Amino acid sequence: MRIGLLTGGGDCPGLDAAIRGVVRVAEDEGDEIIGFRHGWRGVVDGEASSLTTADTKGILQQGGTMLGTARYHPDEHTGGVDMVLATIDRVGVDVLIVIGGDGTLGSAHQLALSGIPVIGIPKTIDNDVSGTTRCIGFDTAVATATEAVDRLHTTGESHDRLMVVEVMGRTTGWLGLCAGIAGGADAICLPEEPTDLDKLAHALQRRHDRGSTSSVVVVAEGARFEDLTGSNCHRSAGEVVSDGLAARTGYETRLTVLGHVQRGGMPTATDRLLATSFGVAAVQAAHTRSFDTLMASIDDRIELVPLAEVAVGPRPVPKYLLDVARYLTVR
Ligand code: F6P
Repeated sequence: MRIGLLTGGGDCPGLDAAIRGVVRVAEDEGDEIIGFRHGWRGVVDGEASSLTTADTKGILQQGGTMLGTARYHPDEHTGGVDMVLATIDRVGVDVLIVIGGDGTLGSAHQLALSGIPVIGIPKTIDNDVSGTTRCIGFDTAVATATEAVDRLHTTGESHDRLMVVEVMGRTTGWLGLCAGIAGGADAICLPEEPTDLDKLAHALQRRHDRGSTSSVVVVAEGARFEDLTGSNCHRSAGEVVSDGLAARTGYETRLTVLGHVQRGGMPTATDRLLATSFGVAAVQAAHTRSFDTLMASIDDRIELVPLAEVAVGPRPVPKYLLDVARYLTVR
C-alpha cells in the first residue's frame, strides 16, 4: 500500500512517536509512506515526500512534529476537497492516516464522505476528542503543568502570595482539572462549572484565617464566571481571576500564563507508548481496509470507532474527577 501521513492542528509531544510507529510498521509490511507537510494544507499544496525508517531515527523522544502542522481544514475552503482528491490521485495514495484534534479529524471524516480512505489518530493536549479516553499529548501536558503548579507553591509560600496559573483548554477543563488535582491546587476554575469569584474569595480567606499564608489557583483559559460584567471580555480568564481575587481579598497576587510551554517538550513514556500503539493500530486498520475510523484508547485496549464520533463535540471531563476536585479544593 501507499500510505499518506499528516499531522494537523496544534502540535503536542508524542506526534513524532506516532509518526515513527506508522513508518516502522508500514515499511516492515512492505508499504510505502508519503509524508505531507503542514497538515491538510500540505495535501492541498502537494507538499509530499517519502518517509522511511531512516527518517524516524531518534525521533521517538522528540516533541513537536517532523512533518510540521497547520490549522487548515480543506472542507472549509472553496475547492479544498477537490484539491485534496487531486493530490491523492496524482501522488497515488491508497489511504491517508490523519493525526489531529477534533478539527483535523472532523475534516478527515468529511473527506471520507467524499470517498477518500482515511484513518484517524487522536491528539490534543486538551484530551477532549470524543470517541477515545486518551489523546496523544495530554499526559505530557499534565506533567508539565503539574510541575509548574509545584513550583508556584514554593514561591507563593516564600512571599505569602496568592498564585494564579492559567493553563490551556478552551472548551474543556481536562488539563486544568488534572494538573490542579495532581499539583495540589487550592482552587480550580473550569469551563464546565462557572466560578463565583465572591464565593471563591471568601473560601480562600477562610483558608488563610485557618493559618495558610499562600494559595495556588489553577484557571483553565476557557473558565467561565458567574455574575461578571461584559468588561471582562478583553481579559484572559487568568487575569479575571487574578485581578478579581486580589481586589476581593487584598492578598498580594501574581499571575502565570503557561501558554505554549504546555505544548512543547519531550513526550512522557505514557505518551510515547500511546502514540506508538496508535501508529501501529492505524497501519493494521489500513491493511484491513477499516477506513473512516478513529484509533481509540478505551480501557487498556486500542479500538477502532467510527470517525463520525469525533463530530459529537468535545468530550467533557468525568464527574468523578470533578468530585475529587471538590473534596480537595477550598469550598
Ligand atoms: O491544541 C489545543 C490548544 O493547545 C488549546 O489548548 C489552545 O487554546 C490552542 O490550542 C492554542 O492554539 P494556537 O496554538 O493556534 O495558539
